[in-house]
Amino acid sequence: MSASYNPVIRIVPNSESVDHYAAEMVISQIRTKPDSVISLPTGSTPENLYNLLVLAHKNDDLDFSKVTIFNLDEYWPISKNHPSSYAYYMRKHLVDHININSTNWYIPNGEAPDAQAESERFEAVLQQFTPDLTILGIGPGTTCHIGFNEKGSTIDSTTRYVALDPQTRSANSKFFQNPTDTPTGAITQGIADILRAKKILLIAKGEGKAWGIHRTINGEIGATAPSSYLRCHPAVTIMLDQAAAHLL
Ligand code: F6R
Repeated sequence: MSASYNPVIRIVPNSESVDHYAAEMVISQIRTKPDSVISLPTGSTPENLYNLLVLAHKNDDLDFSKVTIFNLDEYWPISKNHPSSYAYYMRKHLVDHININSTNWYIPNGEAPDAQAESERFEAVLQQFTPDLTILGIGPGTTCHIGFNEKGSTIDSTTRYVALDPQTRSANSKFFQNPTDTPTGAITQGIADILRAKKILLIAKGEGKAWGIHRTINGEIGATAPSSYLRCHPAVTIMLDQAAAHLL
């Protein structure tokens, strides 16, 4: 096991404060280094963060023209135009509303015929960059996933196909019109990819994340709680609302 560090833990009054803090971190990253490389999650947690970034672009000239974005994951298989795909989510919440160069946005291709070949392709591109900042959410219940690195993920894992934990499928079925359509797998950046970032911000909101946050910070570091690997990185901030922090 690599050296372990203490993440910076910030507990703020409510979920809006989490969004504002996360947005400030991304905005200051881009203003300080306009060609920043940033890895981003999807899901409910960062939705308002993306609204704030779009507002900063529209109202305060936040310039994404030199920024590179890598998504952490995408369901597989899924059509890019499926309204529950992460490609669609990113276009809807962020990419279509900012001046990012479309060739600077990378997301695993859910339509690729071969998930392993697609994982290798994505990993090869990712290896050409060092993310300056990676934003993460955390999985529901006891999953402790980051990206879609479910239980059993190793610290040296890279981009690959993973089967989704039943708790993940159940939580994410709310995003599908027909819940039984929720995919059983995804292509995700690995733990080693996530830990290559210079800085990491994990954001969590709500009661449903409290157990996972407690386990991340206080439990043993290892594959039974992939988010615990974040303690092997020297520059991690964990930003929580009161509900997500209530077991600490
Ligand atoms: C999705 C991702 C996942 C989510 C996590 C939390 O791109 O990386 O790790 O961040 O499943 O999802 P929400 O925010 O919907 O609770």
